[in-house]
Amino acid sequence: MDIWEALKSRHAAIGERPILALFEDADRADDFAVQTQHMRLDYAKTNIDRDTRADLLALADATGVAAKRDAMFAGEKINDTEGRAVLHTALRNLDGGPVTVDGQDVMPGVLDTLARMRLFAEKVRAGDITDVVNIGIGGSDLGPAMAVAALAPYHDGPRCHFVSNVDGAHIADTLRGLDAKTTLVIVASKTFTTIETMTNARTAKAWMMDHGGNPAVQFAALSTSDEKTAAFGIAPDQVFGFEDWVGGRYSVWGPIGLSLMIAIGPKGFDAFLRGAQAMDQHFRVATPLQNMPIMLALVGLWHNQVCGYATRAALPYDQRLSLLPAYLQQLEMESNGKSVQMDGAALPMHSGPVVWGAAGTNGQHAFYQLIHQGTRVIPCEFMVAANGHEPELVHHHHLLMANCLAQSEALMRGRPLAVATRMMADKGLTGLEKDRQARHRVFAGNRPSTTLVYERLDPFMLGQIVALYEHRVFVEGVVLGINSYDQWGVELGKELATSLQPVIEGAEDPETRDPSTAALARYLITHRD
Ligand code: F6P
Repeated sequence: MDIWEALKSRHAAIGERPILALFEDADRADDFAVQTQHMRLDYAKTNIDRDTRADLLALADATGVAAKRDAMFAGEKINDTEGRAVLHTALRNLDGGPVTVDGQDVMPGVLDTLARMRLFAEKVRAGDITDVVNIGIGGSDLGPAMAVAALAPYHDGPRCHFVSNVDGAHIADTLRGLDAKTTLVIVASKTFTTIETMTNARTAKAWMMDHGGNPAVQFAALSTSDEKTAAFGIAPDQVFGFEDWVGGRYSVWGPIGLSLMIAIGPKGFDAFLRGAQAMDQHFRVATPLQNMPIMLALVGLWHNQVCGYATRAALPYDQRLSLLPAYLQQLEMESNGKSVQMDGAALPMHSGPVVWGAAGTNGQHAFYQLIHQGTRVIPCEFMVAANGHEPELVHHHHLLMANCLAQSEALMRGRPLAVATRMMADKGLTGLEKDRQARHRVFAGNRPSTTLVYERLDPFMLGQIVALYEHRVFVEGVVLGINSYDQWGVELGKELATSLQPVIEGAEDPETRDPSTAALARYLITHRD
């Protein structure tokens, strides 16, 4: 029997076994947890027992996770549908050794660009710039936007704004109220062709010229294409380049992180890189059982591919991490949302999960109802810091932590019918009405979750957390046998949008499209002002 089959049999045999029963093993809380620098991942509140875990570890071993990890760090072209290495780790390899691609050490180039970014960031922070507008989308937006929000207590540079959507509302709302003479626009696009970003960049350039600014000095670009940034008119000394071995959703560690560096300063940015580097080191050397990314990935594979839970909720109990679910959504879904394996064969199981979520405690008052009492099981991934950044509001933080722990406990324990019935009896209800009301108050419980706790969300910790999730996605992709580093699934929609543009502009007949699309286009055309 192969390992997947063995795991499925284990799942079938577990049936309704209560997770709580697993704590008869007195060591479980510590044994089903992984610790590394200033953080602890608990996966004891899942239905994974020692035998299941042994099978999951065997799966990681059989699929060659360790060898593929080493190949990635060594600069081998593991993104083999695009013929590229995958080396976002080189961007944070601050004092590591050489990293070679095609026989060339890439580290001098990485460190040189980083040094130029530092000088530029210091100049901006010391000058008259009051506002920075980062124009980018996907990985060229979500990473820096998430990190700038996450590290607000360390933000001592100019204000940062992020424009991504081609919807003119986004750039209009952002530019309104900004002073074109003291605004720096950063055009962040790996390819420098993305229609949303280029459209917004042209609009920002026109706004700056119309309002007395000087795009020749107030525009910077982050891209792999020197020709395209030059054609746009951006001075070469304000262009920060990177190579095609940095995937968009893995790019916050290099030039794409420039807005973050301007916000928190080069020292803070260095700490962010060092946090990621610490996680890289942990991922490379820790045994699989003590390896946080590997264990987090195996828990994810168990829930998604074996148990069949199609979604995963990312639930940071940290208001400043409210963009993290969206960031993780791109990271996981663009990386592991694939239907074929490396060799082109159909994936014989489900691809990666739907990732969604929101910051706690807000989600508790919105969608947790379904998580607790809905018919589908949603594995939850909680996270919370031991310390906030508001010592004068420590009672808020105590409430935040209590709520976070309460949710995972409630999901696991549930509330049985007998308890709910007693509650209703205590309220004075009797007979059928007591039973009816009790049934509405039952929580099935036995719902799995993981919890990541850490000391404080500082730049180093954020670097560790983001790198943890990057490596988790990598391990899941390796076990599934897919290429986590391409994204062909975004192409078709882009192509059709381009071909629909003349239809919307009235230059082409809607009849060329399918009847539904044609009818929708006709409605939009006839109803526009
Ligand atoms: O359309 C998907 C995508 O290619 C993402 O992978 C990427 O992060 C985003 O678009 C932006 O791409 P670019 O940085 O080239 O503008």
